[in-house]
Amino acid sequence: MTNTALSIRDVRAAVGSTDILKGVDLEVPFGEFHAIMGPNGSGKSTLCHVLTGKRDYQVEGSAELGGVELLDKPVSDRARLGLMQAFQYPVEVAGVGLQEFLEEIADEQAIPENELEARLEAAAAEFDMQPFLDRAVNVDLSGGEKKRSEIFQMAVLAPKVAVLDEIDSGLDIDAVREVAEAVEAMRSPEMAVVMITHYSRILRYLTPDRIHVMMDGRIVESGGPELADELEDGGYEALRQRLGIEPSAGAPREKAASEYFTDTPFDI
Ligand SMILES: Nc1ncnc2c1ncn2[C@@H]1O[C@H](COP(=O)(O)OP(=O)(O)OP(=O)(O)O)[C@@H](O)[C@H]1O
Ligand SMILES: [Mg+2]
Repeated sequence: MTNTALSIRDVRAAVGSTDILKGVDLEVPFGEFHAIMGPNGSGKSTLCHVLTGKRDYQVEGSAELGGVELLDKPVSDRARLGLMQAFQYPVEVAGVGLQEFLEEIADEQAIPENELEARLEAAAAEFDMQPFLDRAVNVDLSGGEKKRSEIFQMAVLAPKVAVLDEIDSGLDIDAVREVAEAVEAMRSPEMAVVMITHYSRILRYLTPDRIHVMMDGRIVESGGPELADELEDGGYEALRQRLGIEPSAGAPREKAASEYFTDTPFDI
């Protein structure tokens, strides 16, 4: 069996005539933890959406999980194969309790009932989620609680490939550490984690095997944890200069602070 959990080759995604992903290649072996960083609008979330099967995009290329092509499969098959995403903006599921939600997914994924029960009990204790099991998924949870709930769901469902999109955004400093430690604790030889983050702070509490930088729809640089330090020091501009990359014409321009204020802020 291949040791590659996720193999992405020349993935392109467009909406209408706008190209968003322009040829992404990424290999993540089982047991490894990879971080993707990159400026706003560079295509990080789009890559997650393409993997999980959001329908907005025209997609080309290949993404295999454990050697099985994902991109031609419906969303439910991708989950059954072991792909799970934690969202930048976790969705609320009104009227469905968290435990009930997990039971339904576990049923679809053929996780035996007693196995699920054991995992639920252990993870609820570990992440202090007992009070949330009967509450509707993510409804009226604080930002931090939603992220904790996503990690809890991952611990219960034990995906083969977990894609975490900005699981650290909107968290206070202690919560960032808790989430990071929880992700690190999930590390196992049967699982690969791809985490998108803007903050090298979270990378202090867990050690990615590789860091990839995405710019304008491509991965332009990969390296070890020292790459995050370089970005912290010099920002993406310094990396662009080192790699000789021109800011693309279509890329969003950084706004000057003064541009955030207009004479008619509520003109809608
Ligand atoms: N469904 C869509 N329709 C039109 N444009 C889209 C769609 N999805 C993404 N885009 C555009 O693609 C670009 C990349 O967006 P994406 O959300 O992937 O960026 P990101 O790297 O995750 O940014 P951030 O760091 O701000 O979360 C943006 O310009 C965005 O507006
Ligand atoms: Mg994003």
